[in-house]
Order: sequence, then C-alpha cells, then structure tokens
Amino acid sequence: MDTFDEIKPKGFVDEEIDPRLDLFAEIDRLKKEKNAVILAHYYQDGDIQDIADYIGDSLGLSQQAAKTEADIIVFAGVHFMAETAKILSPTKKVLLPDLKAGCSLADSCPPHLFKKFKEQYPDHLVITYVNCTAELKAMSDIVCTSSNAVQIVESLPKEQKIIFGPDKNLGAYVAKKTGRDLVLWNGACMVHEIFSREKITKLKERYPKAKLLAHPECEDVILEMADYIGSTTGLLKYSSKNEATEFIVATESGILHQMQKENPGKTFIPAPPNNNCACNDCPHMKLNTLEKLYLCMKNESPEIFVPQDIIVKAVKPIERMLQISAQLGL
Ligand code: 13P
Ligand code: SF4
Repeated sequence: MDTFDEIKPKGFVDEEIDPRLDLFAEIDRLKKEKNAVILAHYYQDGDIQDIADYIGDSLGLSQQAAKTEADIIVFAGVHFMAETAKILSPTKKVLLPDLKAGCSLADSCPPHLFKKFKEQYPDHLVITYVNCTAELKAMSDIVCTSSNAVQIVESLPKEQKIIFGPDKNLGAYVAKKTGRDLVLWNGACMVHEIFSREKITKLKERYPKAKLLAHPECEDVILEMADYIGSTTGLLKYSSKNEATEFIVATESGILHQMQKENPGKTFIPAPPNNNCACNDCPHMKLNTLEKLYLCMKNESPEIFVPQDIIVKAVKPIERMLQISAQLGL
C-alpha cells in the first residue's frame, strides 16, 4: 500500500500554517533574521518569483550561488539546481522547499549507466548539461547550461571528440549550430518534448504576426519553426527587446509571469502541447509553493547534502563552465 507521503497532493504541507499569516511579510522577516537569500528559477509560480532576491536561468542562478554572501541559500527550483548551489558554496546551508522537486531530464540519465556509456568513448571529453545529478557532474569535464552550451563546445579544438548528455534535443541543437559531431545521451525533458508542431502551426495562422520563442530542450521539429531559440533568460530578453507584440512561447509556462510583467502591453501565448493536459507546467518545479517556501525557511529544512567526494569532483567542471562564461562575458 502507498504511504501517505507518496500520495499526498502537490500543494500539501505537513505543518499547519496560521491562515492569518502574511506569508510575504513572514518570508521577508525570516530572510533578514537568518541572512538568507532566495534564488528562484523562472519556472516557479509567480508569487515565488515576486518574493525572490534573484530570478534567473540556470547559468544566472549558478553565478549567484557562487558569489552570495548569505548564510542560507533558499533554492526555489529543482533538486539539481540546489545541488549545484551546494557544490559551489559547500559551507552554506542550502534549502529546497520540496525535496521531491526532481527533474525528468536528470532522471533520464542514471549515473551507473552513463559511466558504462562513457567507457565506450575513452578519448572523448564529457560535456554535461547542468540538468543532471551531482554524480553525473562528477564524471564530467565541463558542465554547461542552455545559455552557454554552443559557446562551450566552440571553445574546444575542432578535433576534440565530445560526449554530450543528458539532453538529446539540446545536444542535437548544439551539434547543428557548431557543425560538430557530438555523441549524444538519449535523454529528454518531459515538458519540452510535448509541444505540437500542428497546433503551433494553427496558432500561427490565428496570430500571423506572433513570433515563436523556443527553448533548445524542444525537439528539432519545433526549433525549426522558431523565430528565436534560447535559455529562459534569452527568451525573456528577446521578448522585451523585439518590437513584436505577440509571442508564442515554447517552454515551461512559469516564464510567462516575467514576460508579462516586463511587457504589460504585449501578448504571450503558451505553445500548445500534443494533448489537452497542462503539460507545459513542470510538475517538479510546481511542487514548490509559497507555504513550503515559508516553512523551509522557518525550519531550515529540507536541507541539501552532497557527499564530500562528489563535491570535490563535481565542482571542477562547474567552475570550468563559470570561467569560460566569464571570459565570454555571459
Ligand atoms: P534555463 O533556465 O537555463 O534555460 O533552463 C531551463 C530548464 O529546463 C531548467 O530546468
Ligand atoms: Fe527538468 Fe524539464 Fe522540469 Fe526543467 S522543465 S526541471 S528540464 S523536467
């Protein structure tokens, strides 16, 4: 029989919260009292984004985690992001509002299988997308994010053989952009694989002036149609700078909150998925709620721990990514 822990609904919080509490004020108070910083990804609920000290894409969040002077990093995102923060700032306490906030892409690459895969290509360098476990990072030479993957591959000599994992869609996009022959791990994100080319084509007929913005985790059939491809920060910047007033957005729906906030006069339409589900909501990202954020700051739990031997190995490829990004001004 399932335990209650396994069947409890998404927004369920274990501890009762006084309904009269102003959670925004309480979170703000705890932030000051505990010298905590809240880092939030663009896929978080709007209210979490609004209370965060910093909102960003995976690269921006890693850069913030590496340089913060706070004692506690509260990571409003998913497990691999909080793990990356812990690896970069191991002496700090890193909290994640819901420990179950995982990632289908990270799950698609079990470290023991990747180890065997890597052994087949002993002369290859390993580049891993940050959306993977700490153990996988520990087996890598360089980590990358969607905003620097192309540049990181380009920074290596042309003859360098490369394994790229775990996202096959981002890998295929990088291979196409750089003209390199990359050995790809067959992983993908459940949210970005769901968009329907047919439905987007129909939507474009209804909104002929709309630009299609797509994240590189989408399949090639979607990327082929896109007017702009980029990380969440890239998509947000493009939507603000571009003169178009209508955008179809092929990525997780949370980014629409900032797009709409920065551009109140523009229209943002979430790209339709293959079926009628709310599939462009990432079920992992959306496990975090304002209530859980408050409780995790109050109780300083759940906390993220990464074994010391993994930290020692995983920090090198992450720092390499940060160095290359700094050199490139990213
Ligand atoms: P970026 O915000 O770095 O583009 O990553 C998207 C993503 O899928 C995070 O889980
Ligand atoms: Fe993972 Fe996809 Fe969710 Fe990002 S959107 S956390 S890649 S499952």
